Order: sequence, then structure tokens, then C-alpha cells
Amino acid sequence: MADAMRVRIALLGFGPVGRSFAEIVADRASELERRYGVWLSITAAVDRTGGVVDPDGLDAGLLVQAKRAGSVAGYPGKGRLGLGSLEALSLSHADIALEATSVNLKDGEPGLTHVRMALSSGRHVVIANKAPLVLAYPELLSLARRYGVALKFSATLGGSLPTYNLGARDLAGCVIERVDAILNGTSHYILSRMNAGDPYETALREAQRLEIAERDPRLDVEGWDAASKLVILANSILNIPARLEDIAVTGITHLGREDLPLTMLGVALRRPDGGYTLKVGPERLSQDHPLAHLPPLSMGIVFHTDLVGPMAITVNERGPKPTAAAMLRDVLEIVRKEKK
Ligand SMILES: NC(=O)c1ccc[n+]([C@@H]2O[C@H](COP(=O)([O-])OP(=O)(O)OC[C@H]3O[C@@H](n4cnc5c(N)ncnc54)[C@H](OP(=O)(O)O)[C@@H]3O)[C@@H](O)[C@H]2O)c1
Repeated sequence: MADAMRVRIALLGFGPVGRSFAEIVADRASELERRYGVWLSITAAVDRTGGVVDPDGLDAGLLVQAKRAGSVAGYPGKGRLGLGSLEALSLSHADIALEATSVNLKDGEPGLTHVRMALSSGRHVVIANKAPLVLAYPELLSLARRYGVALKFSATLGGSLPTYNLGARDLAGCVIERVDAILNGTSHYILSRMNAGDPYETALREAQRLEIAERDPRLDVEGWDAASKLVILANSILNIPARLEDIAVTGITHLGREDLPLTMLGVALRRPDGGYTLKVGPERLSQDHPLAHLPPLSMGIVFHTDLVGPMAITVNERGPKPTAAAMLRDVLEIVRKEKK
């Protein structure tokens, strides 16, 4: 650790994604130090029941063990039942707050307050939770600018899929004429099964058995998760201040056999006035569309541009680890800039 830059991290939310992030840190701390010259030190972790803080650094492996046994508050010697996330954040001395609490599209909480507090206390934020960005993207971006810190969210645009980097960075200078996105793996899986002949209920049950659909699947099958991602994409890549209510959203629950085959798609279509029409719903893709043959457990996106034509990326991912890897990618980018 002698010459490595030490970066303190507060993990707000320790569900599958937060836990996976801690597992990655536990598994490859030395490799990250060797390759990037950084020592990631988790100094706080919280879940709904409590948390644990140590500005000198917690043991990531012990955090994971404590959570497996019930709660991060069970961390030996230091965990505290009832420790609130804001207190934990302020005691953590964290340089970067990782926000990975549950989505709440009604008021964005607790994530929205976490992000506001972290940014306005001068910390960088890496977020996997879409809700704060869906409800308050312009506010949070300007808060980050005001305090001179980074707000990174690549995990919100399809897990590990590098949607943001491709759209905002790598296609710089191009006009994006249309975006076609399959960014909700659950509805894509269910609709793929329906295209293959399964009734909706059977496909949904199978998705739940595979743990890719929640017990309450409405956010996915009614299109709101895909619409949330389209809002973030529109704000961050297309530079339009879109909100959820600007998107025409249709789910997949009403479809009959005669409607199929269809693909659940988020679409942004550039209008002659430079704005974009945004919609989410089942669409029929032509056989030569880059996403027409995307396997059931995949996600993908196509940017149709004027200068380079269509550019597509896809990923076949399961479980929370790729999303945690996307958060790590954001953390390392922040570190790289800090070291310059
Ligand atoms: N799972 C994925 O593959 C994936 C992919 C892309 C994006 N995301 C997003 O990433 C975020 C994290 O995903 P996840 O699957 O880990 O979510 P999750 O299962 O909902 O876990 C959320 C974590 O946040 C904690 N939490 C909730 N409310 C809290 C509060 N008021 N104070 C402190 N902690 C609180 C929960 O505590 P308890 O553990 O005590 O319940 C849990 O540890 C979500 O917003 C999700 O939508 C997930």
C-alpha cells in the first residue's frame, strides 16, 4: 500500500449490488493497487437495519460475512444497529459515496437525500440506483458542478453495458438520430419466451424462478424500469431535460399470441426540430436489426448516427456482479482523474 493512493468509500446500501462491490474489493485489492495504483478502503456500509463505520478502513470480507449473517450492523466489534446512513456517511471520511439502495420512483428516497448530502459535502458519487437521477438529474448535476465533484452513473444504464461511455464520449461529434435500447433484461426475457410460445404467466414464473424478475414485477413488465433508463439516457447523452411523464410507456402484460413476435424496446427518435420523441413498449424489429436476435438473457443498445451509422453493443449478464463492476469502472475513472 506504500505508494498507492488510498480512496475511502462509503457503501450506502448493501444489497446484492453493494455486497458484490465489497466482494470485488475483497478479492482484488492487490490487483487494483498494482494495476491502478489505488487502494480502495471501505470506511462505511449501511443497510436498512444499521451500519458500520471506521475511517481507518473496514475488512470487506468481514462486511460480506456480516451481511450474510443478517446485517452489516453485525460487523464484529464495530457494527451498530440503527446507525443511519447520513450519520455513517459523515463519520466515514469517504472520498466517494456509492449509492446502491432500492429504487423508489415516488420520491427518490432514501437515495435522493444520500446523493444530495454526499455531493454537497464535497464527495464524489457513484450511483446504481436510478430513482434520484430519474427525478432530479439536472439538480444533481448542477450540485456536482457547484461542489467540483463527480457524479457517475454508468450502472444505471444497463448494468455493465457501457451505454454512457459510448453515447456521451465515444460518439462525440455525431448526431444521434435514433436510439433503440433493450435495457430491461426481465421484460426482454419474458417477451423472448412469449415469442417462443410460452403464455405470459409461464414466462413470468420462469423469470421469477431464475431470480431475474422480482416478486412484484410491475416496474419491469409495465415498462417503468426501461422508461427510467430512457430518462437518464435522454438527460445525460441526448442533453434533453426529459422526465418520466414525457415518455409514452406501454407494458407487455396485455399482449396476445397474435401480436407476437415483439421486442420490448426503449426508443429515442430525433425530430427535425432537434428534440427527441421518447417511447417504451413492444415493437416488431426487422430481421436485420442489430438487436433482432438478442438472446433472452441479454441487453443491448443501438445508436443510429449520421457520421458512423448504427453502432450496437450487447451484453449477456446475470446477477449483480456486472453492475458492481460498472460501479468499480466509475470509481476507477474518478481515481484516474484525481491522479492527473
Ligand atoms: N441487481 C442488479 O443487477 C441491478 C442492476 C442495475 C441497477 N441496480 C440498482 O442498484 C441498486 C441496488 O441493487 P440491489 O439489487 O442491491 O438492491 P436491493 O436488493 O433493493 O438492496 C438495496 C440495499 O439498500 C438498503 N436500503 C434500502 N433502504 C435503505 C435505507 N433507507 N437506508 C439504508 N439502506 C437502505 C437495503 O437494506 P436491507 O439489505 O436491509 O434490505 C439493501 O441493502 C438498486 O437501486 C437497483 O435498482 C441493480
